[in-house]
Amino acid sequence: MTTDAVEDSTLQDKALRPLTLNTFAGQPVIVEQLEIFIPAAKGRGETLDHVLLFGPPGLGKTTLANIIANEMEGPLTFTSGPLLQDTTVLAPLLVNLEPGAVLFIDEIHRIPIQVEEILYSAMEDGMLDVMVGEVEKKTLRIQLSPFTLVGATTRAGNLSAPLRDRFGMTFRLEYYRLADLTTVVYNAAEKLGMDLSHGCAELIAQRSRGTPRIALRLLRRVRDVLETKHLSGQDVDQVVRALKLLGINDKGLSTQDLHYLRALVDTFSGRPVGLNTLSAALSEDSGTLEDTVEPYLLQEGYIQRTTRGRQATPLAASMMVQLPGAAG
Ligand SMILES: Nc1ncnc2c1ncn2[C@@H]1O[C@H](COP(=O)(O)OP(=O)(O)O)[C@@H](O)[C@H]1O
Ligand SMILES: [Mg+2]
Repeated sequence: MTTDAVEDSTLQDKALRPLTLNTFAGQPVIVEQLEIFIPAAKGRGETLDHVLLFGPPGLGKTTLANIIANEMEGPLTFTSGPLLQDTTVLAPLLVNLEPGAVLFIDEIHRIPIQVEEILYSAMEDGMLDVMVGEVEKKTLRIQLSPFTLVGATTRAGNLSAPLRDRFGMTFRLEYYRLADLTTVVYNAAEKLGMDLSHGCAELIAQRSRGTPRIALRLLRRVRDVLETKHLSGQDVDQVVRALKLLGINDKGLSTQDLHYLRALVDTFSGRPVGLNTLSAALSEDSGTLEDTVEPYLLQEGYIQRTTRGRQATPLAASMMVQLPGAAG
């Protein structure tokens, strides 16, 4: 349960996490396909083919892994790339899987190659090859119970081709459309016992960077303000006041986004900048910029990628003028 516990430490998060496909809002392409493949596999009495989920953090990869296990009615085992640094950790995990189990490997791109290699035959033939013997080494083949591997990563590009090819389904999670994120907020508010109108849920969704994790965090902070200031979640003006009090930028950009844009607009005066230069200027890992900051800024038209580097668009420049201090 490791990574999950780190990501979502509160019990509230667990309570808010949808457990079925039909209560999962958004990601229509993925949901539509799983609604075909899950019943098909179940109908044949087979396990679901291995699934790779990739996309920026907070969009529902862990949630979907939970849903897949739940819908397949199989036990779920969590682990993550950083925990699987040695074959001696992965091998017993595989051997102990019950028939029909779902093995969820978060941050699967962080598995070292020698560990990854034992996954190939496990995924393809349900066989585990282990080396035994001190003096005379030989390979022992162990038959595994049929299982489904669900891998999650923010960096599909970092997976080796042999590993990527062994997934029967690869799904890319997208930032949520406003209507879907509004549904996420509205449903969560209901579960939290808040009296929040649909219009007010939409105000929160608008400021959440297309990301359920951010929307749920903001919802809780709004709830605190509404309660302490005796404001109503039914009144748009009062929720706007609560959001102002929280100092939330009305485009939903994070402090990290604003620092990034400020560097492009001010530090580099709007010139195209290479990723490594930008990463050094911001003291931020280039992979993090590429996987978690840039996709949203690109999608919303704040930046563009040119052959000479990243460049702020006039939209970003105009926003920087409106926001003298990068708060958020
Ligand atoms: N479609 C959704 N509907 C409702 N809540 C969601 C949805 N997707 C994600 N969440 C919630 O958002 C948070 C982040 O989701 P998570 O699955 O942990 O994201 P990831 O694993 O991609 O980083 C969790 O609290 C989860 O319950
Ligand atoms: Mg996750």
